[in-house]
Amino acid sequence: PIFDVIVPAAGVGKRMRADRPKQYLTIHGQTLLEHTLNNLLSHPQIGRVILPLHPSDPYFDALDIAHHPRVHRVAGGKERADSVLSGLQTDDSSPWILVHDAARPCLKHSDLNKLLALAEQGTEGGILATPVRDTMKRAKTHMPNTVSHTEDRDGLWHALTPQFFPKAQLLTALLNGLSAGSNITDEASAMEQAGFTVNLIEGCSSNIKVTRPEDLALAEFYLNQRTS
Ligand code: C5P
Repeated sequence: PIFDVIVPAAGVGKRMRADRPKQYLTIHGQTLLEHTLNNLLSHPQIGRVILPLHPSDPYFDALDIAHHPRVHRVAGGKERADSVLSGLQTDDSSPWILVHDAARPCLKHSDLNKLLALAEQGTEGGILATPVRDTMKRAKTHMPNTVSHTEDRDGLWHALTPQFFPKAQLLTALLNGLSAGSNITDEASAMEQAGFTVNLIEGCSSNIKVTRPEDLALAEFYLNQRTS
């Protein structure tokens, strides 16, 4: 089966302290967004890329990929969840949908294969994730630079993307989460709140989200290494 993927790219990337949103920073002369989209489009089970962009995005139209026949641009929203919602509301018959961060160009096809297998396994969907390796500290609410306690890191995971869910359920879960005012930082949080079982599929930790300036060099390193 073929699946569509929503790639929310309407963020402004404040944490990067760059002159442009992080998805438009370049590695080897190509933007992160192009690396991410080309990587997805070269997978045999990916159909269309639905791309929520900032309504006044000044960068995208200048890229070759803007004319790709399988890239479908839509208007993004205020928060990531609004952008994903806008992508979900484009018409399409496929019962499942992937969501993948524009700023994660280093996804391996072998990890994507493991995630896509969930659709054949009678599940309610899931996400790529990696187990937490560092010891995790919870800060005090009123003294945010001091430790309240150490969290048990056993069973703690980093949530990565892609995230992969039945489309109708994700749409309802996001609408309910947004109207309840919940803090939805990924699709899985909306699905959890709606009571679905979200499967954790262990993926490679090289699937980083380029967030801070130093991440760009690391992404370049992983892109150079990538074979599958
Ligand atoms: O800010 P953060 O790194 O969590 O953003 C994750 C992804 O969501 C990025 O690809 C960003 O462009 C996207 N996003 C969006 N619409 C927003 C905010 C973020 O599509 N309003």
